[in-house]
Amino acid sequence: MLAILGIDTSCDESAAGIVVDGRFLRSNVIASQIAVHRAYGGVVPEVASRAHLTSLPPVLIRALEEAGLSYADLGAVAVTQGPGLVGALLVGVAAAKALAYALKIPLIPVHHLLGHLYSCWLARPDLSFPAVCLVASGGHTSLLLWEDHLRVTVVGRTRDDAAGEAFDKVARYLGLPYPGGPALEELAREGDPRAFSFPRAWLEPETLDFSFSGLKTAVVNCCRRLEASGRSLPLADVAASFQAAVVEVLVEKTARAMHTFRGSTLALAGGVAANESLRQSLAARASAEGWDLVVPPRELCTDNGAMVAAAGYFLYRGGRYGDVFLEAVPALRLEDFLPPFFPGAIVDKSGR
Ligand code: KG4
Ligand code: ZN
Repeated sequence: MLAILGIDTSCDESAAGIVVDGRFLRSNVIASQIAVHRAYGGVVPEVASRAHLTSLPPVLIRALEEAGLSYADLGAVAVTQGPGLVGALLVGVAAAKALAYALKIPLIPVHHLLGHLYSCWLARPDLSFPAVCLVASGGHTSLLLWEDHLRVTVVGRTRDDAAGEAFDKVARYLGLPYPGGPALEELAREGDPRAFSFPRAWLEPETLDFSFSGLKTAVVNCCRRLEASGRSLPLADVAASFQAAVVEVLVEKTARAMHTFRGSTLALAGGVAANESLRQSLAARASAEGWDLVVPPRELCTDNGAMVAAAGYFLYRGGRYGDVFLEAVPALRLEDFLPPFFPGAIVDKSGR
């Protein structure tokens, strides 16, 4: 039995979880800082770092208690190395280093996107490869081709705002509280998604990249025009039409990736995966196409430590240990973290 403690402090959740043998979830404890940041309308990096310092130690203790384990039972400690807010990441990395050093167990650095990917593994540890995973959160909107453990390639990413970031910015403009995603979804329930036809950024025909900043600007301009004409803003219709535009692009590009890479499993992760409209649209598409859909429960979709522990297990098995010099890397790219793998690369087998 290998019990791994996973720690994530990449943004505004102090999170720790314990997973055994990469698949058995034993605990998943999250201290949210939502109340702290709400007063500012968004995450304030220094406030987040300071909050991690005080909230992470009790979260670690509770993660062990809920798992019914003691420090001595841990076989490794995994931690998000990046990407994320540097001061926030540093708190988790320093805690993980101290634990690994004191307990004399391996320290496993984890890329945050791999963490999100492995929330799907925790939800379905027998999923079949190749899988395509859409990771949509406040910091990322990426399509990952997942061919096997540690064989993960970014095949599409946002060129500007992440989907969650667009939700948060539009929500803020509409006067909704932080975090904007869930509040906007709530409002959209009462609105007509066809009331406004906001732009969908398909970009070049062959690309799997995304762009959401134009949509955000279109929503703001539309609201300004309505206000200037003296009409009251149909907030719920704006929210529903915005959400429909985001969901349509996310579903369509994910489906394209499934076709391109002949995926058998379609996975969804990241905070935006909590969005019911996205879940339902992807589920409808997956069932029409005959794809196996994996969507983790909500507590595994948003940032958490269990997903880091699960990813850490496979990195551990690959011998990917960190040491006392491990640094937090705020803009860590998956391509730099994992050895590159090129799908469809031409391999010269002639022996020359
Ligand atoms: O994965 P996550 O917890 O943190 C990051 O790594 O960013 O994702 C947080 C993001 C926020 O932008 C939040 O507004 C968005 O996920 N989000 C949602 C919903 N719940 C959370 N967006 C749309 N609909 C939701 N129900
Ligand atoms: Zn995240």
